[in-house]
Amino acid sequence: MVATILVPPIMEIGAGAVQRLGAVLARLGVRRPLLVTDPFMRDAGHADRLLAPLRAAGIDAGLFADTVPDPTTDVIGVGTALLRDGGYDGMVALGGGSPIDTAKAMAVLAANGGQMRDYKVPNPIPTPGMPVVAVPTTAGTGSEVTRFTVITDTQTDEKMLIAGPGLVPAAAIIDFELTLSCPPRLTADTGIDALTHAIEAYVSVKASPFTDAMAIAAMGRIAPWIREACADPSSRPARENMMLGATLAGIAFSNASVALVHGMSRPIGAFFHVPHGLSNAMLLPAVTAWSLPGAITRYADCARAIGAADPGQDDESAAQELVQALRRLNADLNVPTPQEYGIDPARWEGLLVTMAEQALASGSPANNPRVPGVADMVALYRESWG
Ligand SMILES: NC(=O)c1ccc[n+]([C@@H]2O[C@H](COP(=O)([O-])OP(=O)(O)OC[C@H]3O[C@@H](n4cnc5c(N)ncnc54)[C@H](O)[C@@H]3O)[C@@H](O)[C@H]2O)c1
Ligand SMILES: [Fe+2]
Repeated sequence: MVATILVPPIMEIGAGAVQRLGAVLARLGVRRPLLVTDPFMRDAGHADRLLAPLRAAGIDAGLFADTVPDPTTDVIGVGTALLRDGGYDGMVALGGGSPIDTAKAMAVLAANGGQMRDYKVPNPIPTPGMPVVAVPTTAGTGSEVTRFTVITDTQTDEKMLIAGPGLVPAAAIIDFELTLSCPPRLTADTGIDALTHAIEAYVSVKASPFTDAMAIAAMGRIAPWIREACADPSSRPARENMMLGATLAGIAFSNASVALVHGMSRPIGAFFHVPHGLSNAMLLPAVTAWSLPGAITRYADCARAIGAADPGQDDESAAQELVQALRRLNADLNVPTPQEYGIDPARWEGLLVTMAEQALASGSPANNPRVPGVADMVALYRESWG
């Protein structure tokens, strides 16, 4: 089997990497970048810390700070108009997955026109957009290295997956110091998102030896450090391992795809506005338990990689340990069930079939080692409810 692997051509990784932004833009030939971020990053001064040295170096950078969590087609429309009218030739995306996904989507629309839904998987993106330099501030989505953007259609509430080689950022600046300000809940949610990426990439039917190596390395960095990162947000070793783990997991799933957890998680995020990592966490133990028979050996490897099973333990019991370890992790990180989160039971029940159909349409469940039908997914949603 030949695996096609795409990663950003430039990655600056480590404490203080963000100071390389000017040099990275110069290497890419970007003269007039638009900084895309969210109101928190602007108000906390993070945007200015990036913009000031650029402006001092004579780089005429603009600012779009109106991105929203779980970016919407409405916001992409506003941003794209600004991008087109401002004569920009590149973007710097600063923030969690939401600002990075927003910048990627703006680049697609600016280059191709039309509506975001025109480029929904499996539709291609004809023309690659302008370069995006991604600067993540959460150790979570891996969007800084992936070929995906996830945008919610304001008209239908659908969380659309958009994919293509042109969505891989031209550069990623991965500086764990930017994550030191993440509060515990955000750290937990984004950290479980990254762990889910690693596990799903490893068990995906599209996995390859290269993505396996990235996924196992990611699990080995995230699992031992996620509790400490939440308990002591100032822990530099925890932050450094989590950030690198999230990026490695991003490389793994960008090239091997995610699977059933993400497929089922996106509709929960879209309909009930549950943060992305949290909706993954709500589903991860039950979906993993259901999927075990499809890839016992692979799940057993995951158990060993996160330290939940001994190296010599047999596959069947090691895989069971993985499920138990994921349940303990949810308990330790206070992950609520959908019911505890306050979701209206009648609305949840009424939307289950629609959510399962949207999950199926996204293509992600087909990558799972055990492939579900709509009825299986409805049962898994019900099992995860309370
Ligand atoms: N493109 C991909 O490959 C990919 C993969 C997974 C998820 N996603 C998408 O990414 C989005 C979620 O991204 P996210 O989980 O990183 O969260 P986010 O970007 O939505 O941010 C959540 C909140 O955290 C705040 N925040 C971010 N960094 C902070 C910091 N350092 N300190 C304090 N607060 C901070 C933000 O201001 C915001 O209020 C979802 O839309 C999801 O679908 C994309
Ligand atoms: Fe994710």
